[in-house]
Amino acid sequence: MKAVNIGLIGLGTVGSGTLSVLQRNAEEITRRAGRQIHVIAAAVQDISKPRAVDTSALHLTRDPFEIVNHPDIEIVVELVGGDNMPLEAVMTALDNGKHIVTANKALIALHGNDIFEKAQNKGLVVAFEAAVAGGIPIIKSIREGLSANRIEWLAGIINGTSNYILTQMEESGRDFNDVLAEAQALGYAEADPSFDIDGTDAAHKLTILASIAFGISLQFENVYREGITEISSEDITHARELGYRIKHLGIARKTDNGVELRVHPTLIPQKRLIANVDGVMNAILVQSDAVGPTLYYGAGAGSEPTASAVVADLIDVVRTITTDPGNRVPHLAFHPDAIIDLPILPMDEIETAYYLRMSVINQPGVMASIAMIFGDSDISIDTILQKGSGQPNENVTIIMLTQNTRERNLVKALKQVESLNTVNGRVMRVRIEQLS
Ligand code: NDP
Ligand code: HSE
Repeated sequence: MKAVNIGLIGLGTVGSGTLSVLQRNAEEITRRAGRQIHVIAAAVQDISKPRAVDTSALHLTRDPFEIVNHPDIEIVVELVGGDNMPLEAVMTALDNGKHIVTANKALIALHGNDIFEKAQNKGLVVAFEAAVAGGIPIIKSIREGLSANRIEWLAGIINGTSNYILTQMEESGRDFNDVLAEAQALGYAEADPSFDIDGTDAAHKLTILASIAFGISLQFENVYREGITEISSEDITHARELGYRIKHLGIARKTDNGVELRVHPTLIPQKRLIANVDGVMNAILVQSDAVGPTLYYGAGAGSEPTASAVVADLIDVVRTITTDPGNRVPHLAFHPDAIIDLPILPMDEIETAYYLRMSVINQPGVMASIAMIFGDSDISIDTILQKGSGQPNENVTIIMLTQNTRERNLVKALKQVESLNTVNGRVMRVRIEQLS
């Protein structure tokens, strides 16, 4: 059968890995896809840049629209990032009747509803496995492997850079900024690394996961997000002493009152498998009604791990090119006319337990006044630890673990605690999830 011609936009970390895997595994890939996959052209910013992969057989251009308007290209692979030019390029490619493969979570989370509508109307496929958790086939697992189930919740370590930083801080006590620079050098971080450390990248990915898990539209604007910037080595150490590890989690949970969509640092009991996922590795725990819990683990970022997902998507698209568009796996797992509108719970309404760290002046009655505020706010304390010399009138650190409480109550109580003149500065808070 005739080879399928594809065009790449982007030959950076993921693009060069994709080309390299396509070249190295060409024979196996053809046996799987049933047709050869030929990369005939690629768009880059700087044509003269040396590449880690052989580009001699490709036409290189600076103009991504040369790729999307190319009459011989059937599949456009967008591996640039960001959502301005990529959106225009993808929409133009769809108008031109081309299928799309992308690793761009920002693009899908922010514009996926429009992109999929256009693709659906045109009978085209937009594949985005690499957009979530790098090389882990989590989109396929949820969309196809778990399609018999009602998914109740999922929780995932879905930003490799944050996990790499937290792991290095814990294992070697290294400085946050040093480790971030290393994650950038290794090609894990986004072009704007603040997206990794402020929770935006994980929120993009959670938007996609929640949509395919619950059959709701993509709604990035409703994801609550916190990053890892406020986590200190001290918190990591205290969490360890209490039998927990701190991980940056994306959590989507369907409750009777609505859907929780949140990304934030979280204490997880050390004995959970997911608490032991380190470095750039990602893992997603999915709780479903029939199969129960399932856990998906693998490299969450990096050149060839991500290329693995991009090339798998390419093979899938090649396999389905000739099938009836109405009978393909729906982009967001549920048929477009079966996507429902569920209320998203405001963060105030979420119930979790908390780790609290505060600096207080060591005086009689301090603990009693804090305990009274918590008691009046209906918050039960599970554990209290005091760290420090214990000398009168010196500052000591108090660590508390609460039982489950509504976020609104905790926020109100902490305002009162922070206003006590025996409490110094802000109270550090990290949510706790048992994930049982
Ligand atoms: P890089 O920054 O390494 O590569 C970006 C590529 O796009 C470069 O080749 C660059 O050209 C090219 N480019 C940038 N602007 C233009 C333009 N205007 N026209 C044509 N080409 C352009 O990014 P990554 O490979 O890391 O990421 C690509 C996508 O994959 C992003 O959406 C990212 O979020 C996603 N992703 C990344 C992962 C990773 O581990 N890095 C993992 C999963 C997803 P040049 O080389 O000449 O500068
Ligand atoms: N910057 C992302 C991460 C790349 O660190 O997880 C993979 O999506």
